[in-house]
Amino acid sequence: MNVLVLYGTRWGGTEKVAHVIGKAIQEAGNSVEVVDAKKAVNNIDSYDLFIVGSGIRADKWTKEPLEFLEKYAVDLKTKKIALFVSCSMADRKDESCKKGKKRYLNDVAERYGLKTLSLGYFGGLMDFSYSHGLLVDILVRINRKNLCKNGLDTAKVHDTRDWIAIEAWGRDVAKLASTN
Ligand SMILES: Cc1cc2nc3c(=O)[nH]c(=O)nc-3n(C[C@H](O)[C@H](O)[C@H](O)COP(=O)(O)O)c2cc1C
Repeated sequence: MNVLVLYGTRWGGTEKVAHVIGKAIQEAGNSVEVVDAKKAVNNIDSYDLFIVGSGIRADKWTKEPLEFLEKYAVDLKTKKIALFVSCSMADRKDESCKKGKKRYLNDVAERYGLKTLSLGYFGGLMDFSYSHGLLVDILVRINRKNLCKNGLDTAKVHDTRDWIAIEAWGRDVAKLASTN
C-alpha cells in the first residue's frame, strides 16, 4: 500500500508521533510518506491509506490537517483512513479522558463523514522551557503555582508519548487496512 501520514503540530511533539507511526507501517511492508500538513498534498489518488493527526491546543486540532480533511472530504469518504491525536487529555484518569477522545477524534471523524479504521489517542509533550507564544508564556508564569498544585510542574518536561503503544497502533492500522 501507498500510505500518507499527515500531521499538524504547533510545538513539534506530534511530528515524532507521526514518524513513529510511519516507520511501523513501513516496516509492515508499505511505502510511506510522512508529511507536515503545512505542505501541500496534491494527488491524493496515489495513496491507499491516510493517517491524519494533530496535537491539541484549547480543545482544537491545528488548522492544516483539518483543512486537508475539509478539502478532500468527499474523496476521503470512500478511502481507508485513520485519525490520531497527541495531547494531555489522553493521560487523564477521570471522565475528561473519554470526553477528550470523543471531542478530538469521534467528533472530527463525524464532522467530515469519515468511516475510520481506527482512532489513535496518545499522550503528548509539554516542555515549558521553550516558548508557546507570548500570551501562553505569560499565563504559565502567572499561574505557575496553581498549575504545579494541579500536577503540572512547569519546570519539568512532561512527555507521555507511549512509543510502544504508538508503534503498535501503526502496525494495527496497517493490518486493518490490508484486510478491509
Ligand atoms: C497552551 C497549551 C494548551 C493545550 N491545550 C490542550 C487541550 O485543550 N487538550 C489537550 O488534551 N491537550 C492540550 N495541550 C497539550 C498538547 O496537546 C500537547 O502538548 C501536544 O503534545 C502538543 O502537540 P504539538 O507539540 O505537536 O503541537 C495543550 C498544551 C499547551 C502548551
